[in-house]
Amino acid sequence: MSSESPIQQPARTDHDPGRIGARVDELLRTMTVAEKAGQLTQYFYFRLPSGAAAEPALGLDVEAQPRMVEEALGRGQVGSLLFVTDPAEINRLQRLAVEGNRHGIPLLFGFDVIHGLRTIFPVPIAMAASWDLDTIERGQAVAAREARAVGIHWAFAPMVDIARDPRWGRMVEGAGEDPFLGAAVAVAQVRGFQGAGLGQPDRIIAGPKHFAGYGAALGGRDYDEVNLSEYQLWNTYFPPFRAAVAAGAGNVMTAYMNLDGVPASGSRWLFTEVLREAWGFGGFVVSDANAVRNLLTHGFAADLSDAGARAVAAGVDMEMAITDPAYAHLPEAVESGAVTEEVIDARVRRILEAKLRMGLIDAPYVDEDRAREVLADPEHREVARVAAERSAVLLRNEGGLLPLDTGRLGSLAVIGPLADSRRDTLGPWVFDFDLAETVTVLDGIRQHVGERVSVDYAPGIPVVQRVFPSMFDMFCGNRPADPEGFDEEAEFTRAVQLAAAADVAVVVAGEWQNMIGEAASRSSIELPGRQLELLQAVVATGTPTVLLVMNGRPVDLRWAAENVPAILDIWYPGSQGGAAVANLLFGTVSPGGKLPFSWPRTVGQVPMIYSHTRSHEPDNQRRRYWDEESTPLYPFGYGLSYGRFAYSDLTLDPPSIPRDGTITASVQVTNTSDREATEVVQLYLHQRHGSAARPVRELKGFQRLVLPARGARRVEFTIGPDERRYWSTADRDWVLDSSAFDVWVGGDSTAEMTATFEVLPSA
Ligand code: BGC
Repeated sequence: MSSESPIQQPARTDHDPGRIGARVDELLRTMTVAEKAGQLTQYFYFRLPSGAAAEPALGLDVEAQPRMVEEALGRGQVGSLLFVTDPAEINRLQRLAVEGNRHGIPLLFGFDVIHGLRTIFPVPIAMAASWDLDTIERGQAVAAREARAVGIHWAFAPMVDIARDPRWGRMVEGAGEDPFLGAAVAVAQVRGFQGAGLGQPDRIIAGPKHFAGYGAALGGRDYDEVNLSEYQLWNTYFPPFRAAVAAGAGNVMTAYMNLDGVPASGSRWLFTEVLREAWGFGGFVVSDANAVRNLLTHGFAADLSDAGARAVAAGVDMEMAITDPAYAHLPEAVESGAVTEEVIDARVRRILEAKLRMGLIDAPYVDEDRAREVLADPEHREVARVAAERSAVLLRNEGGLLPLDTGRLGSLAVIGPLADSRRDTLGPWVFDFDLAETVTVLDGIRQHVGERVSVDYAPGIPVVQRVFPSMFDMFCGNRPADPEGFDEEAEFTRAVQLAAAADVAVVVAGEWQNMIGEAASRSSIELPGRQLELLQAVVATGTPTVLLVMNGRPVDLRWAAENVPAILDIWYPGSQGGAAVANLLFGTVSPGGKLPFSWPRTVGQVPMIYSHTRSHEPDNQRRRYWDEESTPLYPFGYGLSYGRFAYSDLTLDPPSIPRDGTITASVQVTNTSDREATEVVQLYLHQRHGSAARPVRELKGFQRLVLPARGARRVEFTIGPDERRYWSTADRDWVLDSSAFDVWVGGDSTAEMTATFEVLPSA
């Protein structure tokens, strides 16, 4: 151990692979198998808020669990902890660990830093809707800075699972349906968390998850099995992981479910053949929580020892456990010959390397004073506000109702319980937020208009509860409640009267945050409770109405899409959400977000994707159902702004290329309106024929631009082998076909401006 200050000094981290290797060799030489198994074990360390009840499904004894972990720390049998965020507590537990093992090896502290730690950003699906890679990277850099300041070294993020079924609650955590957008967003997040590489000051390890296919749960039911073809895995579900790995992600997390008959957390194919051998992943793999012992639940492993041996042999370096880890049985598995010590050593090596690269072995403790300063940095809130502004998607704006003109507005009615709920404004998957500083939509509007406009508020309807409660409610008093003595009928009438008397009504509707996220699948996408009825009653007053949708997946907006003049999707916008929403409503900024998924009309259409293949009777594509359009309500990539954009002069150069060639597509984009506005220019590609049938369109390029009033810019994209290569089921390999290719460029996936180029057969 260094004799200098043992406070974390990331600038002093070791980046020399030779020196790191030698130190790891030295440690491995002197460690017992039990000590090695300890390094491969990560425990939750739960401290529930006083009075909170443990969720029975977790089988957790909230008194005994932390005691058990502290005992294990004292015996040197823990490599990492998760769920501790208080720097003093982190230092205390770190001390137990360092003093509890004879090598003085410190713990890695991991946490679900999903969309912020103290400063909460819009939920990940919202960040993806910004199509703004710089904003996404900056957001995760702020999250990393706050996390690192309190002593967290590693985020269980980004979630890069492709999600095409909105019944699955975890759609909110990812980047939506598309592998190209998903890969770009994954890379931006890895860079935001890690900076230029592991061990940078103010940065933490990124852990893309859940490898692989988790988003394709049968029926959208979280944790249920997944059956995906190799075609879908290689072309759709793997690319964001591959991109995150290529960007240097230091960690990858396994998935809970069974993938094509093999529990993902025991899949040698996934963790050794694909991740390590095909992609050269050099970081460490962690199991999802309890996913190694779940190999028993799946009917895969015979007992805990077998589960541990099979996971470790498959390539799962660290087990995340609540209690009773399977990896505690690794010494007996080595003894019985079920796994070799060389395999264990290879796994431990990756964990020790990560600790060395993060500088922990020399400086394990965190500076508690600095943590307070960093968390209070006002600049972080600014970054969060800008992110919320950039992620909002304008779905409808009939008659230019938005932006609202404060000069011509006397009164506003703000309606709906979500309009003034701090907790819901933040969204799911946050634990360390500051409710007092959270700006709701109502707060934001009031602060923005000041005395100029009178703003009245009524919830109108009671809070809607889940039929089955959320297991996350126990962590942070999540479950919402109505104010005492809430009179439902009287409140409904009051809300409608307020709307009738106002110049404009703003209705906030969506899902309460505990209705989405993990273990939050739904069998419908309707607005919960009486929200639609309330919206209809408000619109019926004749007062011009703006609908703000607070959500993390599509909800049924069929009625609204025809009857509400303005609809703005604000997602769960985070700490500064209300301030951002006010800036959007009143035109301080123009919305510029675009949908990262196809928005279905009804749940019966899902999964619904824009990149389907062309098949029998394509002219009938929009009438596949006899009772409802089979097109989405809003297409992938869709979103309006307060400006208007025209596309012209699409050129492809050269018009034909050899198989390894690259063409440049270029198009003129003009803002034809009288105000500055943002557009996301998108390029889609279609291969006409080849060794497999290819999607009607696939996103292959995008650029977010701000154009001044009447301003124009020429935008260029390149289409090279990487954009055309795909994994073909016919060849069971990557192929680059010669074919004619169609290109479309425009503001969403239904763009009509098109041109064609030719990839010539090799001579
Ligand atoms: C989730 C992971 C998460 C882990 C730790 C699991 O239930 O699936 O995404 O990182 O818990 O909180």
